[in-house]
Amino acid sequence: MNDPLGDGDLTVLKLGGSLITHKDRALSINKTALEAVAKQLGKWRRSGSVEKLILVHGGGSFGHYYAKKYGLSTSSVKASAEAISKTTQAMLELHNKVRSALESKKVHVETILPSEILDDRKAALSELGRKRLIACFRNGLAPITFGYVNVNSDGVSIISGDLICEVLAKSLPIKRQIFAMDVDGIFRNARLEGSVIPRLFSPNQYSSSKGRFDVTGGVSAKVELGFRLADLGTAVYFVNGRSDERLLKLILGQKDIRSTAIVPPKN
Ligand code: IPE
Repeated sequence: MNDPLGDGDLTVLKLGGSLITHKDRALSINKTALEAVAKQLGKWRRSGSVEKLILVHGGGSFGHYYAKKYGLSTSSVKASAEAISKTTQAMLELHNKVRSALESKKVHVETILPSEILDDRKAALSELGRKRLIACFRNGLAPITFGYVNVNSDGVSIISGDLICEVLAKSLPIKRQIFAMDVDGIFRNARLEGSVIPRLFSPNQYSSSKGRFDVTGGVSAKVELGFRLADLGTAVYFVNGRSDERLLKLILGQKDIRSTAIVPPKN
């Protein structure tokens, strides 16, 4: 049987926490945005597209709220059992809401637990993750995973959805990485001045500040990540997840969609 992970039709879609939650209001879902995303993915499903989508979502004001409250970060720290449990619980609640919104538009998904998808070093897709992805595609399911709290005997750290995207691009031939956000793309600075930059040629085109609850880096870290992904051969797009079916059009491979692109060097 041919390998559904090797046929060049893989897109990773990261639903940013800033899109699916109200990022400056603790534990608050952005229902309108989530419904808009689900509606577009429902249309994508019905379009008969051969594209295979791996979904990843962030933590927004769910995971980041508790991570910040308890001092968790991307580096390993000691944390209380309560800190770990509450942060994970918030992510699972958010995840369930994302699942429900997708299911209501007949986007059938299979949760791949974040702890299943990466290997122990968080540097490559695990063997289990690979098997689970293949099983999803063979059963017509869109795999979905999310940023999480990594607990091991030395300490606790936050694994961002963005890191999962990077590891996927290192391990699989990801054609397209789409970051769905609450704004139209990347602007020159965090005050969203000027118009959206259609194509980024250097990480220095952007300078930013972090959001209130964000423990994993903010937009400048995402732009830098975008360049690393492009170096791996993945075309990267930052797009508004809510407006004008831009997300749907990008997944369907349409060009000239209002967004910011980072194109792999060889293209
Ligand atoms: C964060 O994931 C996960 C937790 C805080 C547990 P991300 O860092 O990918 O979340 P967003 O997209 O920036 O909100």
